[in-house]
Order: sequence, then structure tokens, then C-alpha cells
Amino acid sequence: MMAAQEISNNIPSRSSGDGDLDIDATMWRIESTPKGLIDEPLDFLFAEHHRQRQAALILTFVADGQFDEAGVQELIEFLQNDFALHVQDEELGFFPILKSCCPPEDNIDSIVARLVEEHKKDELIGEDILKILKTSVLTRAITQEESRELRAFAEHIRQHLAFENAVLLPIARARMDEAALAHLSADMKGRRSSA
Ligand SMILES: [Fe+2]
Ligand SMILES: [Fe+2]
Repeated sequence: MMAAQEISNNIPSRSSGDGDLDIDATMWRIESTPKGLIDEPLDFLFAEHHRQRQAALILTFVADGQFDEAGVQELIEFLQNDFALHVQDEELGFFPILKSCCPPEDNIDSIVARLVEEHKKDELIGEDILKILKTSVLTRAITQEESRELRAFAEHIRQHLAFENAVLLPIARARMDEAALAHLSADMKGRRSSA
């Protein structure tokens, strides 16, 4: 078992100005979503999933005992804001609108029920995850247990978005007509204008 300090001692210095580390530095960033993409709501949700995959990767960097202060701060802000907003987009807008477009044979109710359960799990452990991130970036150390929690959260995010990309979005592309897409787009815009 590797102690927290031992993990942090294995980290290469990020302030050395070494050219090789510049490539890594971009991996701490979460890309912003292109402006106007919200008019294509399913592409917007897909783009958010891509950003969540980047967030999951950064979680594993911290789990490995790497601490880029700006990167971790950006990750914290992403989890508190855009990630939380995405769950609202899905539960308050996307899921109900999609359900209204699907025939019973799509089995959409049970698919959505599974996803809502997974969102609940994210919410339950989210506070713990934020606490670990805030503490570890200050102390530049992480315990084995904290590392395990970050890794499990990252894996949960990845599996969830992979299922949504592979199962939910294809159903939505097949079932949602122009009116339903416009409804969803307006719903998501409204959530942002009142935020
Ligand atoms: Fe989701
Ligand atoms: Fe999602």
C-alpha cells in the first residue's frame, strides 16, 4: 500500500517548464461547449457527455496523486455547475419529452428509471468527491481511500454517459420530431436564463 505522501512524491514537477509537460497541461482542461449548439439539443447533450469524459479523466489524475491547481479548480466548478445543470436538463426536460415521443415497445420508462437512479447515486457521493478534491489540492496529498473514491466516481460517470450515448441518444434521434427538439432546446435555454 502506498501512503499519500509517497503518491505525491511520485509526481513530476509541473513548474519546470519542461516542454513534455505542456502536452499534459491541456489534459487538465475541460473544453467549453460551442455557442449556439443548444439549438441542436441532442448534439448539446452529447457534447456535455464529452466534457464529462474529460472530467472523469481529470478525476483519475487526482486519484493518481497529481494536483494541477487550476485544473482541479475548473473540475470543481464543472461538477458544481455544468454537471449539475446537465442532470436537470435530463430529468426535467429531456426524459419527460422523450417519454412522450416513445411507443411502449421502446421500454423507455425502465431505461429512464435506471438513469435517474444513477443520477441519485452521483448526487449522494458528489459532496464527498468535492471535499476530497478541495482538500487534496490544498495539501497536495491523497489517501488510498480517497483515491479509490475518485476512481469509482470517474468510472460511474463514464459508464453512465456511455449508456446514454449508446442507448438513449439513438432512441431520441429516432423518435423526437422537430417540435419535440424545439421544446427541449427551449427548456434548456430557459434553465440557463434563470440560473
Ligand atoms: Fe444522465
Ligand atoms: Fe447525460
